Amino acid sequence: MSSQKAEVLLDKNRTIAPISPLLFGGFVEHMGRCVYEGIYEPKSAHADADGLRRDVLAALREQQYTVIRYPGGNFLSGYNWLDGVGPKDKRPVRRELAWQSIETNQFGTNEFMGFCKALGAAPMLGVNMGTGTIQGASDLVEYCNAPTGTYYADLRASHGFREPHNIRYWCVGNEMDGPWQIGHLDAAEYGAKALEAAKMMKWQDPSIETILCGSSNDRMPTYPEWDRVALEVAWEHVDYLSMHYYAGNRENDSTSYLASAVGFEHFVDTLDGTLRYVKAKRRSKHDVYLSWDEWQVWYKGDPMQGGWTEAPHLAEEMYNLEDALVVAQWLNVFLRKSQVLKIACVAQIVNVISWLNTRGDGLLKQTSFYPFKLVSQYARGDALDVLVSAPLVETKLYGAVPMLDVSASHDAATGAGEVFIVNRSEHETIVTDLVWQDRGTVRAGDTWQVTGASVHDANTWDKPEQIVARKIESPSMLDGRATLKLPPLSFTVVTTTTA
Ligand code: AHR
Repeated sequence: MSSQKAEVLLDKNRTIAPISPLLFGGFVEHMGRCVYEGIYEPKSAHADADGLRRDVLAALREQQYTVIRYPGGNFLSGYNWLDGVGPKDKRPVRRELAWQSIETNQFGTNEFMGFCKALGAAPMLGVNMGTGTIQGASDLVEYCNAPTGTYYADLRASHGFREPHNIRYWCVGNEMDGPWQIGHLDAAEYGAKALEAAKMMKWQDPSIETILCGSSNDRMPTYPEWDRVALEVAWEHVDYLSMHYYAGNRENDSTSYLASAVGFEHFVDTLDGTLRYVKAKRRSKHDVYLSWDEWQVWYKGDPMQGGWTEAPHLAEEMYNLEDALVVAQWLNVFLRKSQVLKIACVAQIVNVISWLNTRGDGLLKQTSFYPFKLVSQYARGDALDVLVSAPLVETKLYGAVPMLDVSASHDAATGAGEVFIVNRSEHETIVTDLVWQDRGTVRAGDTWQVTGASVHDANTWDKPEQIVARKIESPSMLDGRATLKLPPLSFTVVTTTTA
């Protein structure tokens, strides 16, 4: 193992944009064991009076989720929200086509609201644009947000919720570009349906914000034309365009995989360009932002194999150190793209494609749990435009890429400043100078690190704490400078206060 040198220049006045708190969101879908046996398990020893698992809630609170998207996902496109409200013994048991599972509907919109309340996160609800109608979408907004006195608001009150839920964020369908989607449409058809749905939804409650389905990923044959067409039709009635992407080291090429941030940034930049183009073409004063509302590492592919059982084990993943470092880079990209990226939801928050797993009454926090926890805990205020000079690593997928992937934040209100650094090199220790160019007085706070010896290191049920966030000795600061030795395959968070 050898060592190389790098420099990171920071200036609290060189800002990109305020960091949206909604970048630290999660996704809950009626899929596999995310809802049942994940967040909701009345028979568990951990269940609270509402059937929510207290141990899962505590882990999710540790991660400080700010917003939760629900109820799908592909599930959304066949879901009748009326099945999931009202007395539980009257709710229908359905064959759920997206994941070929049995859906008992014991958890629905009002239980989801209770979960968000318990977590302290904002709800983000989806309306069905597959089998659903624009009327059904409008009715759900009335059910959730209207004061009592009309049919659906009164129905809510009769279910025990007199006060409106006041849900602000609404997804108008899910992955409608995908042929796998129930009720899949082409871009013009979807744009037209989404426009009419969003119009009615906003007439129900003008304070809501709507999210239009963008491409399901950047490998779709219709990408990015789908995004342009749907946006051109629906522009004035939508506030965000959704992005989805699942990464993974599928070619067994760790060097390229560890440079995934390059691809993530390119995806955002393309859609940012698409948003600017459509805004100009429409001569609009309205702005639309990006909502990366499904992102995660996913290896097991699209599992339509629920076998018509309740809460089947679907897409339950094991994550290792390299997956955690890719997650850390993803979060860096969120900060670096703060001017256009305003919402992000990891898919999903427990059991399904998740870094958090239940097994009976046990709970396992996998490697990538920790980078999310650190960034969501510390990134506040403005994202900073960081200048990095670092040695390069040659990758098959992206060419030569700097060994360090860095983002930073500064909160003018508290003086707190953070630097988030991934050393993606598999072999090189990088001796890195951090230089605060604004010449303020910088004091070191805590420094945290997630690292391990091999890309394959993982947490297992037998060894659950191989890879965690460990507090390391903070670098000494002198005249706004500090030097840090960053081990290969590491994610380091340096916290500071500035005067
Ligand atoms: O999160 C799992 C699935 O991935 C979602 O249901 C769908 O939107 C995406 O394809």
